[in-house]
Amino acid sequence: MIRTRVIATAAKAPEQVITNEDLSKIVDTSDEWISQRTGIKERHISAGENTSALVIDVAKQLLEKTEVPGESIDLIVVASVTPDYGTPSLACMVQKEIGAKNAVAFDVVAACSGFMFALSTADKYIKSGMFENAIVIGGETLSKIVDWTDRATCVLFGDGAGGAYVEKSQEAGVVHENLGSAGELYDILTEGYTNCSNAFNDIPAEIDSKWYVNMNGREVFKFATKNVVRSMKRVMEEAQVDRDEIKYIVPHQANVRIVEVVSKKLGIPMEKFYMNMERYGNTSSASIPMALNELNERGLLERGDKIMLSGFGGGMTWGTMLIEW
Ligand code: UT7
Repeated sequence: MIRTRVIATAAKAPEQVITNEDLSKIVDTSDEWISQRTGIKERHISAGENTSALVIDVAKQLLEKTEVPGESIDLIVVASVTPDYGTPSLACMVQKEIGAKNAVAFDVVAACSGFMFALSTADKYIKSGMFENAIVIGGETLSKIVDWTDRATCVLFGDGAGGAYVEKSQEAGVVHENLGSAGELYDILTEGYTNCSNAFNDIPAEIDSKWYVNMNGREVFKFATKNVVRSMKRVMEEAQVDRDEIKYIVPHQANVRIVEVVSKKLGIPMEKFYMNMERYGNTSSASIPMALNELNERGLLERGDKIMLSGFGGGMTWGTMLIEW
């Protein structure tokens, strides 16, 4: 059976670190509130580098690690809600910088579930036999679309990118997945609204705040716990894998309290959930691949291990993937 196997992972975060203490100097918040409600202590914030700089860095690292030349890459898929441009896609910018002149390159948008949707897309091209390999990256500079006067959202997010080089394998790889969308809930988490304007119509400007991240935190919390639990259960049932067989779960790094609820509902101990949100905050589509890369770089994964990646995000969307490492 053809499978899509993760051969290498990589991540990149901006150098600048902003602590909870730093945030308490610009909005009415405290380290205590942020730590207790979210588990986040600090996040990396761009000092000028745009999303393309982060995702290109990840792509270059992946080629270095695998020693695969750029011209041998078949597919580049980047997930982001904070690209540099409307067009070109980030994937095309990556293509240029790594010399992947034979690749097909495009972006996908599924907010914090973006990496799951991007990996799922690459998996289908590889399983269909159309492509042999792919670079899949999630990357964001959320700092440019966060309202830095809104304490309810600005304390949650960070910038970064993470990704994987995947290729066709007969041995291991993606075993099963569950993706989902609930568009009827789209307005509980939005960002980046652009107003309609032209030279012929006098169209009143929408309120500027719709450009920034707008979120009903409690509704997103409810959505996340319900759907992540359901999605992970479904993947384990359909793949006939027992929860005890799972070595690690890499959840979307949004809030430690969400992970605690999921852990309790699934009866899977917290130690199995790999988390680094304490140091990076919520980096949206980058959060899962950044955490996966850390798990991998720390040497905690062995070939044959079963792991699950699971995320949720704007759209609303969710995605879970069971991978044999
Ligand atoms: O990638 C997907 C992204 N989103 C998520 O995953 C978000 C999911 N939701 C959450 O993680 C939580 O709902 C939050 C962390 C966003 C908020 O936690 P909460 O326990 O739901 O707090 P809340 O929104 O109910 O607010 C409680 C209080 C409010 O004050 P009052 O009305 O009780 O007086 C807020 O005004 O906390 C206040 N508050 C803050 N206080 C200090 C909100 N933000 C802050 C802050 N510092 N940064």
